[in-house]
Amino acid sequence: MSLLPLMEWLDTHAWSTALHESLYMYPLTESIHVWGLALFAGFAMALDLRLLGVFLPSVPVSTVANKLLPWTIAGFIVMVVSGAMLLYAIPIRTYLSVWFRLKVILLILAGINVWIFHSGIYLKVKEWDLAKRPPVRARFAGAASLLLWAIIIFSGRMIAYNWFDCDRQPQSSFVNWFAGCPDDLEGNLHG
Ligand code: HEM
Repeated sequence: MSLLPLMEWLDTHAWSTALHESLYMYPLTESIHVWGLALFAGFAMALDLRLLGVFLPSVPVSTVANKLLPWTIAGFIVMVVSGAMLLYAIPIRTYLSVWFRLKVILLILAGINVWIFHSGIYLKVKEWDLAKRPPVRARFAGAASLLLWAIIIFSGRMIAYNWFDCDRQPQSSFVNWFAGCPDDLEGNLHG
């Protein structure tokens, strides 16, 4: 199921064009997306490093989690709102970006990893709260989280580069498939 018709409709919005062509609002939105990263990824990775037993090993895991999670959630909300605005500003090109698609898939996997952790091993945190080296499932959740966020951040940064854009044909059949390049793409994607 392609969301391209929805992106094409968003692209007709005066607000979408106004945001994309704005002198200050678009750079400000993108800056907030990057600043939010410091808040979100910084605190999320601090907890992941505690789960791996390499950061604050003498501090109980639940203490680190209780102190950092509210800020991490606040940072995540900033990332989603600013990210959605960036998508709204350039909907078609972003939707047809291999890097954006990879990022969305990894965001879903990162969400599943968080859910498995909080609905599984973390429910028994009292049993391993003081462990300098938490149980393997907690360490796995921390390592998976670190890896996923690192690739999400990398793919987010790559969105700006047009090497694999649908309007730069020929692209490999894999890129055309993964990006969802429409056969009848008219004009370029930069609006
Ligand atoms: C917590 C989750 C997220 C993280 C860690 C993240 C990370 C990033 C990073 C590091 C960049 C590059 C910023 C730069 O240097 O220019 C970026 C760009 C971008 N992100 Fe996100 N992002 C997240 C969520 C989202 C969401 C939910 C959306 C859309 C619904 C989104 C849409 C975008 C877009 C469109 C760009 C490209 C901006 C541009 O270069 O023109 N992001 N993201």
